[in-house]
Formats: sequence, structure tokens, C-alpha cells
Amino acid sequence: MDFILLGPPGAGKGTQAKLMVDKWNIPQISTGDILRAAVREGTTLGVEAKGFMDRGALVPDRVVIGIIAERLTEEDAVNGFILDGFPRTIPQAEALQQILDGLNRAIDHVISIEVEDEELVTRLTGRRMCKECGESFHVVFNPSSSEGTCDRCSGELYQRDDDKEETIRQRLAVYSEQTQPLIAHYEEQGRLRRIPGTGSIENIFSRVLEAAGN
Ligand code: AP5
Ligand code: MG
Ligand code: ZN
Repeated sequence: MDFILLGPPGAGKGTQAKLMVDKWNIPQISTGDILRAAVREGTTLGVEAKGFMDRGALVPDRVVIGIIAERLTEEDAVNGFILDGFPRTIPQAEALQQILDGLNRAIDHVISIEVEDEELVTRLTGRRMCKECGESFHVVFNPSSSEGTCDRCSGELYQRDDDKEETIRQRLAVYSEQTQPLIAHYEEQGRLRRIPGTGSIENIFSRVLEAAGN
């Protein structure tokens, strides 16, 4: 199963991806997580990406396309993958298509998780992320059982630099300008499944399963 998770910042892509990993035993490939790891490690990639990420802008297409081209050929992705946060522009979607053609595979489902802006701001300002495994928690909606520690891997929780209200608003604007056109793009290809992203995390996961034909 090859999936794309589409949706605005805070829609729950990461949260649902973790449940999908457990269900299908295929990797979550989050360009955001890969870029944040590079920023933390201070690599050339991280240094280049940081400025864009801190102001809520997209990292240049060629950078993220390069990351994905490499990542999709790794062994753990042979039976499927969950793309979380990629593609985010039409050129990225076109490049993905080429990469997959070259690997003789195709996307099965594009799942678009839909949530209103004000709810997204509330989710992102209260989010806490795990430094180790990237799991998302929320101080009110989805608290970890021990404050500051990840339930999944015991890693340390932190607040993302781009989860400040001003930057969140900028990310939402960038989403509607540059990423939303992908909805029509995949709809035309007949691959799009839209699901409402409000309700409990479990409830949304059952919509994901239904969208995937399970
Ligand atoms: P990225 O890390 O992908 O961030 P994003 O798209 O802004 O999405 P988020 O991770 O913020 O949200 P999410 O949908 O994963 O929500 P989550 O599950 O955590 O990208 C970051 C940056 O990297 C970009 O701005 C860009 O600079 C760069 N970048 C990345 N990919 C790129 C690309 N392809 N091209 C160019 N640049 C790229 O949930 C959010 C919160 O809500 C959590 O607190 C969670 O606990 C809570 N929550 C989840 N579900 C529910 C629910 N049902 N009810 C209540 N709360 C819930
Ligand atoms: Mg995420
Ligand atoms: Zn963790």
C-alpha cells in the first residue's frame, strides 16, 4: 500500500501516520521529521532548511524531491509507505510521479484530512512532539501519561519552533496557496479520498481505514 497523507498543518497527518505504521507495518516518511532531524544534527541540509522552516515557508522543491527520491528506494519501503507532508506543491507531485514510474509502482490512496483553521491553531499551539520518534501529543486533547515524556519511546517532548501562533498562520496561508491545489490534482486522477479530521483520533483512524478499503 502506497499512501499520501494530505492536509493542512495540524490536521493530524503525523498522528494518523503512526497508527497506519502499526496497522500495515510500512514506514512513515515525513519530510518535516527528516528536515528537523537535519536541523538538529547541523548538517548542510539542516542549515539550508532551517531559515525556511522557522518562517513557515516551504523548503525549495529540489531539496525535498532529492530527499524523497533517495528515501523511497530504501529497503523498508518495498511493501509500501506513508508519505506525510510530501508532496506539497504541484512540481513535487510531478516529480513523485516520475520517481514512482521509475520504480514501477503507483500511489494507491491520497487521503486528505480536512480541519478548519481555528481548530488547527488550537491544536498546534498545544502540541508537544517527541524528539526521538516524532510522535505528536497535545497538552489537552492527547496528553502523554507522564508530562514531558513520550508514551511510545520515553523520549523527551518539546515544542516545535514553528508552533508559534504567527508562524502557524503563515504555514496555513502557505498551505492554501501552494498545497491545496494538489487536492484537485489528485481528484482528477481519481485517487483522492477526503475525510473529516475532527472527532477522536480513533474515530478519524476508522475513516482512514475505510478510505483505504479496509
Ligand atoms: P511538517 O512537519 O510536515 O509540518 P506540517 O505540514 O505543518 O504539519 P504538522 O506536522 O504541523 O501537522 P500534522 O498534520 O502532522 O499534525 P499532528 O498529527 O502533529 O513540515 C514542517 C516544515 O518543514 C514546513 O513548514 C516546511 O518548511 C518544511 N517541509 C516539510 N515538508 C516539506 C515539503 N514537502 N516541501 C517543502 N517544505 C517542506 O497533530 C497536530 C496536533 O493536534 C497534535 O498536538 C495532536 O496531538 C493533535 N491532534 C491530532 N489529532 C487530533 C484530534 N483528532 N483531535 C484533537 N487533537 C488532535
Ligand atoms: Mg506532522
Ligand atoms: Zn517518542
